[in-house]
Amino acid sequence: MDLSLRLWLIALCTLLFFSTTTTAADMSASAINDRTKPTGNIHLEGTAPTIVAAANPARTGQVVYDQYCASCHNSGLMGAPKKGDADDWAARVSQGDAVLAKHAIQGFNAMPAKGTCMDCSDDEIIAAINYMIEPN
Ligand code: HEC
Repeated sequence: MDLSLRLWLIALCTLLFFSTTTTAADMSASAINDRTKPTGNIHLEGTAPTIVAAANPARTGQVVYDQYCASCHNSGLMGAPKKGDADDWAARVSQGDAVLAKHAIQGFNAMPAKGTCMDCSDDEIIAAINYMIEPN
């Protein structure tokens, strides 16, 4: 290797050294943020929160009652036991939970099956029953 090439290489290395160190010495906030930022945006498959509303999320007893049962059970329409009325419910509750649930789910005389909430789950109907038998 001749001398001029060697000198040229030394000059090049020096230049590279100083150019990288001056960049590294840049203490501005944006330069620091840039140097310390994560190397990639990590996306973990399957762990991203999914904000997809369930087609039929479980409703509370009150929500089901207000929407489907109140029309009859608020006023006692057609002899429906009134919400929170202990006298209306005493004899019915004494049949046991299973009978109450069965009558509400399958229908019973003028009581329509599921109180017309056809997309209600059994659990939602039972929640509505519990809500309506609670004393006011
Ligand atoms: C169209 C009016 C109507 C609607 C709406 C209705 N009910 Fe009723 N429900 C009745 C009537 C009338 C009775 C009394 C039936 C009887 O004893 O002959 C009754 C009785 C009941 C009973 C007592 C059953 C028994 O074994 O004594 C339960 C529990 C009940 N309803 C739950 C519900 C629920 C829960 C809803 C709403 C999801 C609902 N009902 C909506 C009219 C209605």
